Amino acid sequence: MHSEDIKLLMKQASGKSVISFAGGMPNNDLFPVKQIDDIYNSLPEDIKKLCFQYGPTSGYPPLIKSLQSYLEKKGLPVQDNKILITTGSLQAISIITQEFINEGDIVLTENPCFVGALSVFETFGAEIHSIPIDKDGIDIKALKRKITSLDRTPKFLYVTPNYHNPAGIIYTPERKKELLEVLSGTGIILLEDDAYSDLYFNEDEKYLTKPMKSFGIQGVDIIYTGSFSKILGPGFRLGYMLSSPEIFEKAETIKQALDACTSNFMQILGNEFLAQHKLESYLKFLRSEYLERKNLLQQSLEKYMPNTVTWNEPKGGFYIWLKLPSHIKSTDIFKESVTNGVVFVTGRTFDPASIKDDRLRLSFSNMPKDSIEKGVIILAKAVKKVLKNAKVKSS
Ligand SMILES: Cc1ncc(COP(=O)(O)O)c(C=O)c1O
Repeated sequence: MHSEDIKLLMKQASGKSVISFAGGMPNNDLFPVKQIDDIYNSLPEDIKKLCFQYGPTSGYPPLIKSLQSYLEKKGLPVQDNKILITTGSLQAISIITQEFINEGDIVLTENPCFVGALSVFETFGAEIHSIPIDKDGIDIKALKRKITSLDRTPKFLYVTPNYHNPAGIIYTPERKKELLEVLSGTGIILLEDDAYSDLYFNEDEKYLTKPMKSFGIQGVDIIYTGSFSKILGPGFRLGYMLSSPEIFEKAETIKQALDACTSNFMQILGNEFLAQHKLESYLKFLRSEYLERKNLLQQSLEKYMPNTVTWNEPKGGFYIWLKLPSHIKSTDIFKESVTNGVVFVTGRTFDPASIKDDRLRLSFSNMPKDSIEKGVIILAKAVKKVLKNAKVKSS
């Protein structure tokens, strides 16, 4: 079960004494602590009181309004759709799964796939079928083959097209379009998870992050989810979904039964951050900080990794996805590196079948800059040792 992988991951990611490339989390030292202090301190007394109160299930109305203009800037069709504020975007994924999935229904995912989503799909008894991705996005031929080979129509396809977790890739605009064309008319809903799109490294490549829901292709129902976790901090537990009014209505009822509403405290602080136009300058700062960490990690990998280990250079987000020679496993490297104080996430964690293990995910986001090189030296030693042992065994 992927839920066990997640429990282990959360523990490793927050371990103090290890060098952790494991956590898919923002950097502790970059949080906008002072800005949030100022925002709260300058709130009028009546809004402070509202922070402590319940609110509407769909969300704090001023936040919905701020989000509408934020999402409109991404080209999203906000007027024809409705926003539901959720307690993290994982809750949105969970609500959508509850809305559409009965035990044994088919969900399509990418392979590899965000492990949190896999855990949700498994919890609701979905039959998961996964489709490989390459450096440009989901494998279109494999997706077509999969859809025609199934005896039932899948309920939805879940994808993370922008700065994929764990693969670090971004879909090309062509691949996004092809994907929509394949789905159009099939009755398969597209669940577009967009947790990382604001974290591009290069302004010139911002256009690549354009959501599929903004493409205007007919015949495919798209539910778009987003999150404040990777930009303001997961402690906010603030996410949202944008969907047709019909999908929204049932989702709102499910959310009502789950937690009545997302914390008003966090919604009010999040809204002020947006409404006072603090987000854009903060994002500029984050982008340069994460780019610096990505460059440091990449330089260290180039310097220390054996040349049989390869990877794609990410254009944004938090992750580098290493490819190992196919005869060694990332689980074996993990066993070796953890004893020397370095952790990461093994490839099999992100395989819906928990088998494929020739990859490993390194997260550079929550890394002190001066630990990156040290961590890679230890990791490279572990890789070399596992490679050497494999050679001895085969000779
Ligand atoms: C691809 C992806 N989607 C969704 C989430 C969930 O984020 P949250 O529930 O914190 O909004 C994550 C967190 O790691 C993620 O990587």
